[in-house]
Amino acid sequence: MLRFKLLVFIAAFLVISNITLAQQPSIAQKVDALMKKMTLAEKIGQLNQVNGDWEATGPVTADVGNKLEQIKRGEIGSVLNIVGVNHTRAFQDAAMHSRLKIPLLFGQDVIHGYSITFPIPLGEAASWDIPAIERSARIAGTEAAAGGVHWTFAPMVDIARDPRWGRVMEGAGEDPYLGSQIARARVKGFQGNGLGSLDAIMACAKHYAAYGAAVGGRDYNSVDMSLHTLWEVYLPPFKAAEEAGAATFMNSFNSLNGTPATASSYLQRDVLKGKWGFKGFVVSDWNSIGEMVPHGYAKDNYQAAEFALKAGNDMDMESRSYINNLAKLVADKKVSVAMIDDAVRRILTKKFEMGLFDDPYRYSNADREKSVLNRPEHVAAARDIARKSIVLLKNQGQVLPLSKNLNSIALIGPLVKSKGEMKGFWSLDVGDVSQVVSLYEGMQQAAGNTKLLYVKGCDITDTSHAGFNEAYKTAMQADVVIMAMGERSDMTGEAKSRANIHIPGVQEELIQKIMSTGKPVVVLLMAGRPMVFNWTADHVPAILYTWWLGNQAGNAIADVLYGNYNPGAKLPMTFPRTEGQIPIYYNHYSTGRPPQNDNDVNYTSAYIDLPNSPKFAFGYGLSYSTFGYSNLKLSKKSIHNNEKITVSFDLKNTGKYAGEEVAQLYLRQLVSQPVRPVKELKGFEKVMLQPGETKTITFTIDKEKLSFYNDQLVWGAQPGEFKLMIGSASDDIRLEGGFELL
Ligand code: NOJ
Repeated sequence: MLRFKLLVFIAAFLVISNITLAQQPSIAQKVDALMKKMTLAEKIGQLNQVNGDWEATGPVTADVGNKLEQIKRGEIGSVLNIVGVNHTRAFQDAAMHSRLKIPLLFGQDVIHGYSITFPIPLGEAASWDIPAIERSARIAGTEAAAGGVHWTFAPMVDIARDPRWGRVMEGAGEDPYLGSQIARARVKGFQGNGLGSLDAIMACAKHYAAYGAAVGGRDYNSVDMSLHTLWEVYLPPFKAAEEAGAATFMNSFNSLNGTPATASSYLQRDVLKGKWGFKGFVVSDWNSIGEMVPHGYAKDNYQAAEFALKAGNDMDMESRSYINNLAKLVADKKVSVAMIDDAVRRILTKKFEMGLFDDPYRYSNADREKSVLNRPEHVAAARDIARKSIVLLKNQGQVLPLSKNLNSIALIGPLVKSKGEMKGFWSLDVGDVSQVVSLYEGMQQAAGNTKLLYVKGCDITDTSHAGFNEAYKTAMQADVVIMAMGERSDMTGEAKSRANIHIPGVQEELIQKIMSTGKPVVVLLMAGRPMVFNWTADHVPAILYTWWLGNQAGNAIADVLYGNYNPGAKLPMTFPRTEGQIPIYYNHYSTGRPPQNDNDVNYTSAYIDLPNSPKFAFGYGLSYSTFGYSNLKLSKKSIHNNEKITVSFDLKNTGKYAGEEVAQLYLRQLVSQPVRPVKELKGFEKVMLQPGETKTITFTIDKEKLSFYNDQLVWGAQPGEFKLMIGSASDDIRLEGGFELL
């Protein structure tokens, strides 16, 4: 009887709660109801995003008056550059004094960590470790959410083939396939279990689009590109981010084929919101609406606002073109209220999804901020991904890993003791910089009884050799020399393009001087981009490319130097021999006169003074171990349209150390219209192997992997022969096969 009563009770409860659920208005209904109450001015206010009280991340052009008062008047919908529960609470308070109490959205560039800084995104991309990259974004999102931030302007998913461009550090490198995997992982990481969960922040795929192809690698420069290349190379990571559910997109500063991206209806309305069905909102980049004027595209901000809104740009970051002009544009019948409504609806929907109408302060909780930031597991994860990001470029004579029984090690170079530099560009000053582990400190922890000697030798951009002799003498006293060289961390990032990407100053001369001691030398190269360092690459026996590794830099590097962690990272970008080869990338076309080798200059597409090949190729990176590839098998020699081929091969750890190898699958369609690249990454797997262990690796090739955009921009596969390549790098192919699509 009791059971029966219980069942009746549960049934009744379910019916009632379903009815209650059915009666709950949907978010769309709530947005509609709210919009009915809004004046045009209040709607326009929602589209206005202004800089907060944290560091400005762009040129501040005007004194804009009292922002808190403007918020109270409903003139501001979002604030960027504001962190911490106290600040966000104060701003949200002002919004709660506005007529309709519409909560503000707080946006921030949480690019590679919030309080705990992770490696720069290009460094993380070198890990080719998708779960680790997602975890890094998850932790950044969790910490940022606990710090009052609702929204990160990340991931940056711009493909970049030009290392002069300072912003290569923010992305995932040159490859659309790897870039798409990473874009997905980062969006998922930031957004966690979805908007509405307290530790999720909105992601923002940026900079839409083709910003990475700025002519000459000069930041903000124009882009001229075929639509075919746009679709094949530059759009895929954006599409992947959209499919992964990115809540927002940011457009870009560049013009694309003559139209500023912010004014591009093609990009924003036709492709993003049309073809891809994007339901989130688009924010401009910092004053990119206003910059239509210097572009020479709009005659003033009034016209720029018209162009931007019509093109599908929903929110105006920091140009005030919308707040100052949209009402007049409506009155002048230049833009419709319906268009404004669409933008407002998109923004309000996200505010509802974030739960901000239920509790506008839900991200601004001081206890949570205190308990979530800098958790030990965040620190451990930062160390883990940092060591996964370090690329072993050279290890002649097995200088590495270091013996634990050395008497002394000389640590030389301008970056040995740096802390702040380790964080890299686009890091936040939320965490205490004293928590950053310098190389010196990491080595102190790891070196045991080995004596550490230190001398700086020179500064990063020094032109003086004054410190060389002391450095030489110190090196002479040591068993091994480790040199920490590279760029200043602010030599990459926004507005940080370099025409000369050599190691700055006299650092490479110092390396030469130290090499003349005859001691074993390990060079650590710290930078936000591929640099040029031919002498070092040719003469120094051991080189690690460490990028900027974040808070745990010193520990991570020491882990690798001592072999407590066996490096397994692979370059996500091609390293040129010199700037003259740029743009340089592995997935180029063949041309009508392809050279047969690096010396073949006989009427071929080559330089007469330099090989075509890069210094280090995309996908390259060594391990302390070695790996053997064998036994390639394809399940079929030919397939029809909807069939699949299974490719398998054996990967064996043929060395002495347990370690990971990133096995890479490349494809080439031999004949097609239009032509296909000489090689395209279509799969990879990061595999852990014990010494002597063999694993069979399998890839599946389906029609999707064989498809591309034809010259009508239609996605599909063309029948024909394919070459299949499996290797350890794009220039180190170990197994080859072929098949035909019938
Ligand atoms: C300009 C940068 O291009 C963009 O990436 C960034 O998110 C905004 N400023 C805001 O800081």
